[in-house]
Amino acid sequence: MINRNPQLDSHRKLQHLLTTEGLPAAILLQILDTAETFVGVTERDVKKVPLLRGKSIFNLFFEPSTRTRTTFEIAAKRLSADVFNLNIAVSAQTKGETLLDTVDNLAAMDADMFVVRHAQSGAAHLIAKHVRPGIHVINAGDGRHAHPTQALLDMFTIRRFKREFHNLRVAIVGDILHSRVARSQIHALTTLGVPEVRVVAPKTLLPSRVERLGVHVFHDMKSGLKDIDVLMMLRLQKERMQGAYLPSSEEYFKNYGLTPEKLSMAKPDAIVMHPGPMNRGVEIDSAVADGNQSVILPQVTFGIAIRMAVMSILAGQPV
Ligand code: CP
Repeated sequence: MINRNPQLDSHRKLQHLLTTEGLPAAILLQILDTAETFVGVTERDVKKVPLLRGKSIFNLFFEPSTRTRTTFEIAAKRLSADVFNLNIAVSAQTKGETLLDTVDNLAAMDADMFVVRHAQSGAAHLIAKHVRPGIHVINAGDGRHAHPTQALLDMFTIRRFKREFHNLRVAIVGDILHSRVARSQIHALTTLGVPEVRVVAPKTLLPSRVERLGVHVFHDMKSGLKDIDVLMMLRLQKERMQGAYLPSSEEYFKNYGLTPEKLSMAKPDAIVMHPGPMNRGVEIDSAVADGNQSVILPQVTFGIAIRMAVMSILAGQPV
């Protein structure tokens, strides 16, 4: 049988985590269920387990990150792995070394796993295809393409607060066009059986033919947020915008910024999520970001357990 999914081996076991697209529900649920057991570990006084003792994990972040990089490092340390953060700014990349030469040299130092963030879509796939069997690659965000561990921690957060996926209406609001997070969320939500996923954005911030991903498209908050259970807000990714997508940040906030008034259009017990970094006063008002429906900081905390789960599954270490 031809293996069409490079993340899975011939026994359909996870070898790399590159995207949520095409991952079977059983694997998504395996990661969520494994993360549940690690939440218990993260709440103990001694937060370490020996599952990855002796393993070497290299964090290769070619783009800035606060949450993803730090929680991967915490997760690896809690699994007792040895963690190495390559400082790209002072690495031989600045002297013209290629990405794959860098990877080969770190593999020669007995790397077991690479966690990769890169501005180019496909960078993690390229590394996964290049490394020898037994080395695992986790995509920590590539260009506009995918951010699978963010989507998984988002699914974990939704399940924690809403229990089930099959009865939810979820709205993803904002700059869908430039968002790797939105793509990974949409694939995960639809695979896990969420019956109604909406995207809410101006036309200029939506990919063409986005409906083909199985989402319902809305251009105004009033209809887009009606009867919603989960709101997933997105940042305006100005660093990826070339040209004018919007009249101004102020105009965007007026129409799409999540204020208490707009939030009142959703169900009264709706939760508000944001992957971070947030731009307060652009896509979200502080009264909502810090309000009692916000689960933005729990998302960050659950990211540790999700990343522990992904790394332990890839290393073939049952909990
Ligand atoms: N959500 C997210 O990817 O945040 P960072 O860029 O801080 O890692």
